[in-house]
Amino acid sequence: MIPHFSGALNSDEYRVLIELSRNAMAIFVQGELKYANPVALQVFAQFPNLLEKISSLAVPTEEVVRLSLPENGQNQEHVLECQTTELNWQGAPAALANFHDVSEYYQVQSIKSEIREQKRVDRIKDEFVSTVSHEIRTPLSIIRETTSQILDGLHGEITSAQKNFLSKTLRNIDRLTKIINDLLDISKIESGKIEIRREKVDLVSLVRDSLVQFTPQIQKKGLQVLNSFSHPHIEISIDKDKITQVFINLLSNSLKFTEQGHIGVGLKEWDNFVECSVMDTGVGVASEDLSKLFNKFIQIGRTDGPGQKGTGLGLAICKGLIELHGGKIWVQSERGQGTQMIFTLPKT
Ligand SMILES: Nc1ncnc2c1ncn2[C@@H]1O[C@H](COP(=O)(O)OP(=O)(O)O)[C@@H](O)[C@H]1O
Ligand SMILES: [Mg+2]
Repeated sequence: MIPHFSGALNSDEYRVLIELSRNAMAIFVQGELKYANPVALQVFAQFPNLLEKISSLAVPTEEVVRLSLPENGQNQEHVLECQTTELNWQGAPAALANFHDVSEYYQVQSIKSEIREQKRVDRIKDEFVSTVSHEIRTPLSIIRETTSQILDGLHGEITSAQKNFLSKTLRNIDRLTKIINDLLDISKIESGKIEIRREKVDLVSLVRDSLVQFTPQIQKKGLQVLNSFSHPHIEISIDKDKITQVFINLLSNSLKFTEQGHIGVGLKEWDNFVECSVMDTGVGVASEDLSKLFNKFIQIGRTDGPGQKGTGLGLAICKGLIELHGGKIWVQSERGQGTQMIFTLPKT
């Protein structure tokens, strides 16, 4: 139990207590400064208008008063909180002012509320992107289906000029679908709404299957494919669709940015993880751009030529999917020297 003390302190006792305090404290009698402890003297020196303001306030109200003051020689405003208490000073009623600089506290509070607001806006934006993308997908797939039926002559013969236009339409529908899917994927990754469904997979077969769909483009560009697998089969427990998506994204980048030489996939099995890489002898990336690559909507030196288009979301999605598997992704590249995207997949 805390013992109950009573009885007033005398001026000397106050002086000892106040002098030792780590708070700034000053005593006023009828607005006139009678005593200031060492901390208060420092604070008065720091804020030239403070003494005047506090002495006018030094009526013992027990209320916390907030003062905004410029710092001596600086144009930065500080916030000080001041509370005055009644006491007896050498037989006369006096006011003890207790004050301290709370600017840092308010700065932290204002940063915290900015962060909260930013998160709120981000959440609204994510929900918006996800709802809009989702709503666009259904009509888009109907448009694709009907266009494709007309193109295939299912609703009557069409001329070769019409065929040309419809093929172009179909290509653009597919591009739009890819953009929508990328937006949906990134918004799912960012909001943590994506799940990993692990199954035992042979990575070597997964890579070979992913490469197949690029065969026509590889042949058209006359590129060589140079793969290197540490073992003929590499079994690992992963989400097959998501890692296939990663390889397809990386391979499509390599193909997009490589006009001669080769592209290839490397798989190296270690004790606890598999190191995967997708490399090419393409245009490469300048060193100052490397750190930005995995951010959203980043496209370095974007040109509008055919085949260069994209959303700048591919690598951000790859990073998200690999991190969901507990892995890491990084890039090694030099302008004009080709690119190597490396990522790890832990064996769980
Ligand atoms: N293999 C690569 N070679 C050269 N640049 C690349 C390669 N892969 C990615 N990049 C650069 O990174 C950017 C972002 O890639 P990505 O996120 O896949 O978006 P997108 O493919 O839609 O442009 C590309 O626009 C390109 O500038
Ligand atoms: Mg891409």
